[in-house]
Amino acid sequence: GIISLVVHFSPNTRTKESPLNPPLPAAEADMAVHHLLRRGISGGSPLHPLRGLLLVSQELGWRQASSAAAGDAVAELRGAREDVKQLLKEKSCHPILVRLGWHDAGTYDKNISEWPQCGGANGSLRFEIELKHAANAGLVNALKLIQAIKDKYAGVTYADLFQLASATAVEEAGGPKIPMIYGRVDVSAPDQCPPEGRLPAAGPPSPAEHLREVFYRMGLNDKEIVALSGAHTLGRSRPERSGWGKPETKYTKNGPGAPGGQSWTSQWLKFDNSYFKDVKERRDEDLLVLPTDAVLFEDSSFKIYAEKYAEDQDTFFEDYAEAHAKLSNLGSKFDPPK
Ligand code: HEM
Repeated sequence: GIISLVVHFSPNTRTKESPLNPPLPAAEADMAVHHLLRRGISGGSPLHPLRGLLLVSQELGWRQASSAAAGDAVAELRGAREDVKQLLKEKSCHPILVRLGWHDAGTYDKNISEWPQCGGANGSLRFEIELKHAANAGLVNALKLIQAIKDKYAGVTYADLFQLASATAVEEAGGPKIPMIYGRVDVSAPDQCPPEGRLPAAGPPSPAEHLREVFYRMGLNDKEIVALSGAHTLGRSRPERSGWGKPETKYTKNGPGAPGGQSWTSQWLKFDNSYFKDVKERRDEDLLVLPTDAVLFEDSSFKIYAEKYAEDQDTFFEDYAEAHAKLSNLGSKFDPPK
């Protein structure tokens, strides 16, 4: 059978309390792995049923918990990350890569225990049938952008690459460092894609109720809903894709990237807390506010967080990083990457 291992990962620990901190020399890391393995094998261990979470990223480095098999995988992930950074520089495609990662993960249903029926960050969004879901309009362009990186690093799964690209885009746009882990397994066929309709709509009859229904189904709470909505500090909405937003504004008519669309913020390639300030003030006709954005300052529970994030970028960054990491792991099955 496959020997598997889970390094328990708490999204609360940005770096300090991780079981792999402070940095372990490779030999010690291996010992820790063997210890965990023995516990896992020998006795009704409390280990999480998911297999083999081997990697934890920190600062600019990657930590590996098992030196032998994971060595190549770490090198491949590191290479892919560098290539994603290069792509971001060339194409200014930060927003659509964040949306790609979110839409792969955001189909997760916590009430379904079987993988991959539960949906989530499993690479299913690479299949045409899912790319054709109305909510995913335009995301085929994101897939095209990163396909060459996938081809170059064959050992990196789509599920990992989508999440790697998204987290790297947030970081490169000036956002917080996200405590990511890698080793996600891909679904293998289009019939494993989730059904259409699991992602949120922008203009539902009752936006607060709708957001709660959709995000609670993913296992996310009010604070996480508000923090994650702050990702709209990046990017634009295009009428020809989602049906929302103006064809162009003074902030988008010259690009960068394909010109057009309506952004939530004036500097829509910069990750900061301006989304919350702009949605709160609603003073600029050229900036977008979807019904699901507006409700963050109307609902009494959402409002507590939205007001806080508009005032305090550090708190937003902290909460965002934690929520994004959690989102990136929804429904994922982890295995030693090789
Ligand atoms: C709260 C419910 C949400 C709704 C209703 C929503 C809706 C939308 C819509 C309508 C667009 C425009 C798509 C287009 O026309 O190309 C969009 C874009 C975007 N969304 Fe969301 N979204 C939500 C949550 C999120 C979350 C949780 C994230 C990430 C953590 C996210 C990240 C983005 C990004 C980065 C873009 C810009 C894409 C681009 O410029 O190509 N959204 N969203």
